[in-house]
Amino acid sequence: MPAERSVAFAPGRVNLIGEHTDYNQGLALPFAIAAGVTVSAEPAPAGSPAAARVSAYARDLDERDEFALAAPARAPAWRAFVRGAVAELARAGFPLVGTRLEISGELPPGAGLSSSAALEVALCLALLALADADVVPPWPLARICSRVENEWVGAQTGLLDQLASLCGRERAAMRIDFRSGVIEPVALELGDWRLVTLDSGVVHTHAESGYNERRRECAQACEVLGISSLRDLDPTMLSALPAPLDARARHVLEENARVDAAVDALSRGDLPALGALLDASHASLRDLYEVSTPELEAAVVALRDGGAAGARLMGGGFGGSVLGLLPPGALAPAGALEVAPGAGARVLER
Ligand code: GLA
Repeated sequence: MPAERSVAFAPGRVNLIGEHTDYNQGLALPFAIAAGVTVSAEPAPAGSPAAARVSAYARDLDERDEFALAAPARAPAWRAFVRGAVAELARAGFPLVGTRLEISGELPPGAGLSSSAALEVALCLALLALADADVVPPWPLARICSRVENEWVGAQTGLLDQLASLCGRERAAMRIDFRSGVIEPVALELGDWRLVTLDSGVVHTHAESGYNERRRECAQACEVLGISSLRDLDPTMLSALPAPLDARARHVLEENARVDAAVDALSRGDLPALGALLDASHASLRDLYEVSTPELEAAVVALRDGGAAGARLMGGGFGGSVLGLLPPGALAPAGALEVAPGAGARVLER
C-alpha cells in the first residue's frame, strides 16, 4: 500500500580530510551539515493517465519535468537526478508508483557541498517511503545513489558524499573505511575554534571536470602495479610508476595517512595539528593530484590571511568550496559559511 505522502530531507556534507580516497578504497573523515535538500512525494491519482508517470517540480528553479515511470528517458541537469533515481530504484527491484515530486533546498549547486548527493539521497528516501519499502541500509542505498550519478549524470564519483549525507550525526565526523565498510563516529569538539567553507565562485560539475580522468589515472596505476586498489600501495612501489601516475598514487597514500593523523589530532584536542594536516592535504591536492584552480588558491589565501590555522580545497576540486579552520579571534572572509556536524538524512513524513 503506498503512503499518502512522504517527505525526506538529506543534508550536504563537508569533508574534513581524505580527498580522492573513496574510489581508491581508502579513508575519509566527512560530516553532514545542516543545509540540504527536501523532497516531498505524493502518489499520482490512481486510475488516471498520470498513474504511470512521474512529475517533478524544482521549486527553487521554478522548472518542471514529467516522464513515464516504466521507461525514463535521459535528460540533462537536475532532471537527470530525478529520472535516474526513479530508474535505479526500479532496477534495484523497488515497486514504485506514479508520483508527484517537489524538490527544494538551500545548497548552492556546484559549490562543493554535495548538493548532488543530497538530491539523490532525498529523492530515494522520499520515493522509498512513498512505496512503503523497508529501510535500506546506508551502503546499498549509497550505491544506488551513486549509480544515479555514474549512469545518469555521467560523473564517476565514489560513495563519500552519499554516505556522509546518510550517516551524519550531531557533533561528530565519520571515519569511513571504504575497504572494510566500517564507519566510526569521531567526536568533533572545536571549543572556540570554527570551521568555515568559502565558495571559490567557480561552479563545477564532476561530469565535465578532470574528475573522471583522475579516476582513470588511479585505475591505470593499479594496472601497472598489479594491485586491485591503491589501498594496497606501499611507498616502495611508487618508483615503478610513470609520471603523473606516481604523483597521483603518492597523494592517495599520504592522504589516507593524514585521515588517521587527523583522527588522532582530534582525540588529543590538538587543533593546530589538525590545521597543519588541512594545509598538507591542500598542498598535495594542488601539487600531486593537480585538482586546484587559481580561484581555489585565492580562496585558500583569503582564509589564511584572516588567520586560519589550515585551509584546503574540498571535494573533487576544479572549483567548488574551500574549508578553513579558524582559531579564536581569526576573521572569516566575507561570504564564508560556518559549518558544524548535524544529523544525517531522514524521512520527515510518511
Ligand atoms: C567528489 C565525489 C566524491 C569524492 C570527492 C573527492 O565530492 O563526489 O565521491 O571522490 O569528490 O574526495
